[in-house]
Amino acid sequence: MNHAAPTPLSSRKAPGLKGRIKVPGDKSMSHRSLMFGAIAQGETRISGLLEAEDVINTARAMAALGAKVEKQPNGDWHVEGVGIRGLQSPKTDLDFGNSGTGVRLAMGLMATTPITARCVGDSSLSKRPMGRVTNPLAQFGTRFETAEGNRLPLTLHGARDAQGIIYTLPMASAQVKSAVLLAGINAVGLTTVIEPVATRDHTERMLKAFGAKLEVKQQDGARHISIEGGHELNAQHLAVPGDPSSAAFPMVAALITPGSEIVIENIMLNPTRTGLIDTLVEMGGNVTIENRRLAGGEEVGDLHVKYSQLKGVRVPASRAPSMIDEYPILAVAASFAVGTTRMEGLEELRVKESDRLAAVEAGLQVNGVFTASGKDWLEVNGGGAPGGGKVTTHMDHRIAMSFLVMGLASRIYTRIDDSAFIATSFPDFVGLLNGLGAKIGIEVA
Ligand code: S3P
Repeated sequence: MNHAAPTPLSSRKAPGLKGRIKVPGDKSMSHRSLMFGAIAQGETRISGLLEAEDVINTARAMAALGAKVEKQPNGDWHVEGVGIRGLQSPKTDLDFGNSGTGVRLAMGLMATTPITARCVGDSSLSKRPMGRVTNPLAQFGTRFETAEGNRLPLTLHGARDAQGIIYTLPMASAQVKSAVLLAGINAVGLTTVIEPVATRDHTERMLKAFGAKLEVKQQDGARHISIEGGHELNAQHLAVPGDPSSAAFPMVAALITPGSEIVIENIMLNPTRTGLIDTLVEMGGNVTIENRRLAGGEEVGDLHVKYSQLKGVRVPASRAPSMIDEYPILAVAASFAVGTTRMEGLEELRVKESDRLAAVEAGLQVNGVFTASGKDWLEVNGGGAPGGGKVTTHMDHRIAMSFLVMGLASRIYTRIDDSAFIATSFPDFVGLLNGLGAKIGIEVA
């Protein structure tokens, strides 16, 4: 995608937010729906797919690898799969834009099919570590030529007749876990991933739904996930529920803006994704889950959120995997709490779309919030955000959205240097928030 011209935005003090909204489909499930559909047999039908740049790049990559991917007039997406051995070498580079999930899972998908593919991304993605995926995939016999430091651009040469591997995850990463399991689909025998710290489990749940021979066992305090290679997947009909990581922004906006009461409908409540809700409730946030139900193998519900005076808490490292993408918006919530909030176990934040620990702290400070930090922790002093600062977003959608939310309750306003990357995950963010009464617009003078 071309993000040549930065588009600054500002956000001003708003009256209470009111209304019912739906946020777009879950990003993790959307990427996986397209990828698993691409290697299944038959036609996978997806409703509720997130139509944001990251996912559209995955759709294009799957088409370049030989799957037929088409949006239907009714808004559903259909993917005609090629089978687990059917991927073809793409004729052009696979451009994953801003998306670590897109490129890392696709590398796993391609790793055990003897094809050659060059993967590229934007300048944010090109700074992110790929060794965490190329190292385990090399154990299947996959070869890589990478830019310096195991980064993109990268050329992958898939392995022929790969054998299954056993791999213990060195960091809590669902992307790495997923890449290894996907490579295992086309390897001989069992591939086992040992996961000492549980991360989001969409790959396991969805691969099972597609008919993969996958088993999860708890052993010596770790999850052992095994997949038996060589079995075809069967096309599925999938309904993607709302993304809890996108719902996080209107949820915090309503909690910190006096007079607010909103409902966010149809949000996925997989327990590996709900750490932010637990934390906000602990902080005294009035968030209730209504209409809990099961849909497409996931628990979903409607989030009813009312303005609340929050209080500072300690967020333990053990909760980090279940809210890894939510620390920027939690830090914004914490700046309106009474007292200090301390967040621990944040080392993975350093390697996201930006160094999120540094970017969040700088954004808080420039808006008059007092903070302290270390290698893997952040403390935020509450009491309200004076605002008035301009935040550098570093091509990071979640930094951009977080500081626009801050402006709604800040004493004056907040500004961000670039809103363009919001389109990677939540294209209608501004329209949806303004529909609730937010005041996000062009930059104030
Ligand atoms: C994701 C996993 C997480 C998360 C990302 C989506 C996924 O990354 O930050 O936004 O869909 O598997 P890590 O697994 O690298 O922590």
